Amino acid sequence: MAPESLTLYQHRIEQQLELRMAALPQTAERLHQAMAYSLTNGGKRIRPFFVYACGSMLGVPLTQLDSAACAIECLHSYSLIHDDLPAMDNDDLRRGKPTCHKAFDEATAILAGDALQTLAFDILATAEGNLSAERKLKRISLLAKASGITGMCAGQAIDLAHTNQRTDLATLEQMHRLKTGALIECAVQLAYYSSELDCPATLHALTSFASALGLAFQVQDDILDIESDTIVLGKPQGSDCKANKLTYPALLGLEEAKVKAKQLYQDALAALSSLAYDTDELKAFAHYIIARKF
Ligand code: IPE
Ligand code: IPE
Ligand code: MG
Ligand code: MG
Ligand code: MG
Repeated sequence: MAPESLTLYQHRIEQQLELRMAALPQTAERLHQAMAYSLTNGGKRIRPFFVYACGSMLGVPLTQLDSAACAIECLHSYSLIHDDLPAMDNDDLRRGKPTCHKAFDEATAILAGDALQTLAFDILATAEGNLSAERKLKRISLLAKASGITGMCAGQAIDLAHTNQRTDLATLEQMHRLKTGALIECAVQLAYYSSELDCPATLHALTSFASALGLAFQVQDDILDIESDTIVLGKPQGSDCKANKLTYPALLGLEEAKVKAKQLYQDALAALSSLAYDTDELKAFAHYIIARKF
């Protein structure tokens, strides 16, 4: 079961994103609509949860976490818009609605992704609050690294390169760690750098937790592509199989993929054990990640 705070943080991020979208100029109306369409049409808000839950655990006020939560969700939203494009996964359904390029058009979807990406960095650069300039810069750099050639984009490139091809487990793991894990690790690091804490051991433990859970999250995503259905999933079930994608079930088989997800869940819990904070919320969340149905 998801921790109760998931709903709380979901409400918070919805409000924050709507406020920030409303504050943007509407000079390019269709582009603004496409951005809002993809950003505020639901989604589990997993990455903002990591920011809010880890930050709160460390004693950071929620108001000081809003910018990081919004930035990472904007970045994620951009990655989904581009992931669904015909040149990438060519999917028509996202969160139970037509994908951005179906609801609008391909060019607008590309631009909406671009604009959401830059919005993410602007949100971090102009964040209010008491954070030192050094920590603000660190947060910007972390998000940039997790998104680009050392993170999500690299993972997506490996994903495309291995469609219709099988490879070894190490490459599969690296692909998943980059395309999905990097942003999830970034979420907990953003939470840490939203504080003025100077405790490398805490940062290390949180990163190990997110690293295991980030990989588990994508393994479960691969499993759900097989086991869930389109209505529950809100995206086309069987999309990976149809496109002959490199996934954990494709390489290991469904049962082994499930064992892997459980192992990673245990690794995530073990990483939390060294923390001198109340980790109950994060433990509940870890379970939700591997037990979720969509
Ligand atoms: C989907 O992410 C893409 C992956 C990295 C697996 P989510 O499952 O977090 O998608 P939403 O935001 O809840 O729709
Ligand atoms: C997406 O992986 C990872 C991203 C960087 C967006 P998938 O292609 O498996 O995500 P879904 O299944 O379409 O949400
Ligand atoms: Mg993809
Ligand atoms: Mg996809
Ligand atoms: Mg998937």
